[in-house]
Amino acid sequence: MLDRDALLKAAAELLQRQPPLLDSRELNAFVQSFLERRDRFLRACGEHGSPLYVIDEQVLLDRARQFRSAFLRELPDVRVYYAVKSNNHPAIARALVGAGLGLDTSSGRELELALKCGSDDILLSGPGKTQDELSMAVLNRDRVTVLMDSFGELARLEQVAAKGGAHIRAGVRLTTDERGLWRKFGIPLSDLPEFLEASQQCTHVLLRGLQFHTSWNLEPGNQVRFIGRLGAALRELKPELRSIIEFVDIGGGFWPPQGEWLQAAGTPAGPLLQVAPPASKTSLQHYRLPSTPLTEFARQIGQAVRAELFPSIRCRICTEPGRWLCNDVMHILLTVVDRKADDLVITDGGTNAIGWERFESDYFPVINLSRPGLTEHPCYVMGSLCTPHDLWGYGYWGQGIEEGDILLVPTQGAYTYSLRQDFIKPLPKAVVVPNIEEDPSF
Ligand SMILES: Cc1ncc(COP(=O)(O)O)c(C=O)c1O
Repeated sequence: MLDRDALLKAAAELLQRQPPLLDSRELNAFVQSFLERRDRFLRACGEHGSPLYVIDEQVLLDRARQFRSAFLRELPDVRVYYAVKSNNHPAIARALVGAGLGLDTSSGRELELALKCGSDDILLSGPGKTQDELSMAVLNRDRVTVLMDSFGELARLEQVAAKGGAHIRAGVRLTTDERGLWRKFGIPLSDLPEFLEASQQCTHVLLRGLQFHTSWNLEPGNQVRFIGRLGAALRELKPELRSIIEFVDIGGGFWPPQGEWLQAAGTPAGPLLQVAPPASKTSLQHYRLPSTPLTEFARQIGQAVRAELFPSIRCRICTEPGRWLCNDVMHILLTVVDRKADDLVITDGGTNAIGWERFESDYFPVINLSRPGLTEHPCYVMGSLCTPHDLWGYGYWGQGIEEGDILLVPTQGAYTYSLRQDFIKPLPKAVVVPNIEEDPSF
């Protein structure tokens, strides 16, 4: 039976948890920063057509430099591995290898890409690695470290390496949450002593480190708390097992500084608002969950590592950022094909380019580069896929919108391009700016 009072209480609590609105000055400044680069985007579209992915290599290289220096200010020995899954365009991986980063891969396909990009420092992570994937790692053992996921994988890797008469460097992933879905990753911390003992029986797998990963962190609490638990476990380890550990990989999960921008539907009270009467819905209200600057992530994580890990082990700290590095690096350009009403346009590109119904919950401004302006107007901006969920936004920034106008959907670098779908319409081409050369590797 429905408990009406409990439901009403839960609804009231959801409404209380609504994040603050996105500050309009911050949003205006964000849109303005793209309007200032309008000519570059229009030129790219003129030369390469539409729809188009645009990669800004300079922004990528700046992010890589900022990330590394933030952590090096706090810790003596840090290595940064870019998480390829967050955006697997080869130009991004290649540029980061050129800037001295390693690559974090989670499959044979990603490993192949990393090898082709010339990386000589690659992690192979992820659950359920196949025999072929382990063999590829062993074959390229001078460039690859395998982050093992289970006791079974330790046995399989030992077997593959022994068959090839090879030695392979490895680490083991630790699960950060032993309940629910995250249990699928790694081994529980309580199994670490047994795992290290088991690895000592292997003559071909050289266990050298530990890895963990927490996700979607708006602040460093998850990472700091797990470092605390790991520190306690290390203090209990036999010294001869502790001395094996040369690196601790703290994973990725660093949120970009602009925070998370949400449509009403993406907020805690989103499901409630969907059934609310029209008068209480304002489609152009956007929300912002704040995030912590990277320097603060680095400061708190550095402090935790020095206090919790360094008294037991002197090790290198590895990181695997994805989103923080690539979020602001790729943008999407579209052209208005059909203006069906004052408040409804269809563009030439569909959201198969990003692979999920992102803009129903996440907010990004759709910027009309052809009629620039700092006002947002309500309008359904939709793609041309034959599905109603093919939505880019509920409004556009500019002075009107007409057929042939070029629209920019900015900062679509993370978990979009690598989730793109071969669905109904062809996928956009990708170009790298400022060179504005078409990338043939796509
Ligand atoms: C093992 C591992 N490392 C790193 C990352 C990158 O995370 P993020 O893009 O949030 O930094 C992921 C993402 O899922 C991951 O699974």
